[in-house]
Amino acid sequence: MTINLNDPIALGGLRIKNRLIMAPLQQYKGTPEAFAGDHHIEHYGRRARHVGLVILESTAVSSEGRLWPNDIGIYSERHVDPLKKITDAVHKHDTPVFIQLSHGGRKSSPEVTNALVAPSAIAFDDHYGTPEALSVEGIKRVVEEYRLAAKRSIEAGFDGIELHAAHGFLIHQFASPLSNVRSDAYGGTSENRARFLKEVLFAVRGEVGRDYPVIVRISATDYWTGGLNPEEWARILKPIESQLDGIHVSSGGLLPVKPSDVYPAYQVPHAAAIKQHFNIPVIAVGKIYNRGLADRILEDRLADCIAIGSPLLEDPDYGERLLKARGDAN
Ligand SMILES: Cc1cc2nc3c(=O)[nH]c(=O)nc-3n(C[C@H](O)[C@H](O)[C@H](O)COP(=O)(O)O)c2cc1C
Repeated sequence: MTINLNDPIALGGLRIKNRLIMAPLQQYKGTPEAFAGDHHIEHYGRRARHVGLVILESTAVSSEGRLWPNDIGIYSERHVDPLKKITDAVHKHDTPVFIQLSHGGRKSSPEVTNALVAPSAIAFDDHYGTPEALSVEGIKRVVEEYRLAAKRSIEAGFDGIELHAAHGFLIHQFASPLSNVRSDAYGGTSENRARFLKEVLFAVRGEVGRDYPVIVRISATDYWTGGLNPEEWARILKPIESQLDGIHVSSGGLLPVKPSDVYPAYQVPHAAAIKQHFNIPVIAVGKIYNRGLADRILEDRLADCIAIGSPLLEDPDYGERLLKARGDAN
């Protein structure tokens, strides 16, 4: 059977009307206390009509975990109502919306904290400075923050959660041997480096139950020798596959290095490599801007869904154009 972008798919128990997903895109418009506002309601509502799923931008589980000072957050009950207005705006179009939960770890903004935390005391760069290695007690505290964020995500009307384990933020820092040199139960083997993600996921599941969709966004490669790659991610994620409803495959961000070349669908080979190991849907992202390319990725079973980011920033109707197009046209 041939699959194309207009075909529905299920993420866990949630059926989405087509396979085009709005990627998480920070708006840098949160208030100093990390509240969402009118901009977010308008922005997401305007883009929700045609895509199968909206994934909200990175949303902080703690004040100190914000990636930028103008991030939005979900670290207090007071954040729930403004977020509910966004989910209401998206739901008007019969489109579900996930929240992306994140903690920056060693890449939290120095403007929001002077006490950076990470698995190990290894700096990302001079700008961020050297973080403090989290104690086990500190780890449990962050896990609890994720649990509370998950509880509030349901209160705010989200239809699912994406755990941000990509782009060099805290969960990614625990997963990669380049940023995690711990010698306790949270470092060393793949199983140990996976422990933080597993504890976060289980805390979230304890709050939302098994039927609520939870997916994970990963950086499939660190673009550096000795870093993560799809095979290592497969070892990390395979034991928790039964608790996940999808894997969203991005790349990079752990180190201040960039891929040598960025071209259409450049991350798709990573998505395809991940997909070989899993039975849950895999989402591909990264410069997939035309219909023919999107359909070929789906037809060839390199991924199950396509996420787009930048084009939707410039043109809120880009999703509609893509879904109505045929062949290589947009
Ligand atoms: C302005 C901007 C903000 C972004 N914010 C996030 C974010 O909050 N969380 C995240 O995981 N990725 C974020 N990304 C990455 C996008 O989700 C996406 O992976 C990337 O833009 C590549 O897809 P594209 O080529 O379709 O734009 C952001 C990218 C841009 C350009």
